[in-house]
Amino acid sequence: MRVCRTITDCRAIVADYKSKGETVGMVPTMGFLHAGHMTLVKLASSKADRTVVSIFVNPSQFGESADLDAYPRDEPRDLAMLKAAGVDLVFIPDVDTMYPPGDETVVETTRLANMLHGKVRPGHFRGVTTVVSRLFNIVQPDIACFGEKDYQQLQIIKRMVADLHMPVQVIGGKTVREDDGLAMSSRNVRLSTQDRAAALVLSRSLDAAEHAVQSGTTVEKLRDVIASTIRAEPRAALKGLDIVAAESLNELSGFVNEPTAIMLSVAFGDILLIDQRVVTP
Ligand code: PAF
Repeated sequence: MRVCRTITDCRAIVADYKSKGETVGMVPTMGFLHAGHMTLVKLASSKADRTVVSIFVNPSQFGESADLDAYPRDEPRDLAMLKAAGVDLVFIPDVDTMYPPGDETVVETTRLANMLHGKVRPGHFRGVTTVVSRLFNIVQPDIACFGEKDYQQLQIIKRMVADLHMPVQVIGGKTVREDDGLAMSSRNVRLSTQDRAAALVLSRSLDAAEHAVQSGTTVEKLRDVIASTIRAEPRAALKGLDIVAAESLNELSGFVNEPTAIMLSVAFGDILLIDQRVVTP
């Protein structure tokens, strides 16, 4: 496994793969890898000849610098996991490499980035698309894998790639969960024991929502089912609940009669967790 930190080295290695006719699959990450990331690595490896993983904690997608500073990092552990998974190249740029002094170009999906979770975290998705477009320009992958857990992010990246005519196929990977149902996230390690137990309310409320949709319900009643399940957990603060059409992400109302994405963000103290489910009546 090769590890590189400069754009020149990364481009040279990828150019070598491409000169041999090999395809490149990429998994962009912010490091502190868990089983969810490793599933995406496996997915990318199954779809392309070479697998490239980037590790970059992207400052432009964090609202408060406290959240950025607190973001967990463990490069040696990440590299050991990626090596064991058979990854070919790990790209680990620093902030000045990704955002050279004087840079001023941003990439934003204007509608999708500023709805739903984008309202709770202003500027977050602009930061994501800005860094992902830069990473794509550096690595030039043929395919790129992103988790379905961040459903809005996945739809935004698909939109960006289509709008900017980027020659990358974006593939979504299923959410990986702990045995008890909590969606895997690098933030989970920051939860206290009590908050870790309380965090099960996310998957519990999505189970209740799925059951309600399958029994027949309206969007309004569905919202009540989810909100009341979350409110019954005193440690949880509901920050965002969006019930939208699975593809367009348009708000829905009335009887649920189409594939519907439910997107949740719930805070435990200063830690924001997200989860989502697409439910079909
Ligand atoms: O999902 C993430 O980890 C990040 O948003 C991403 C896509 C690596 C961009 O920094």
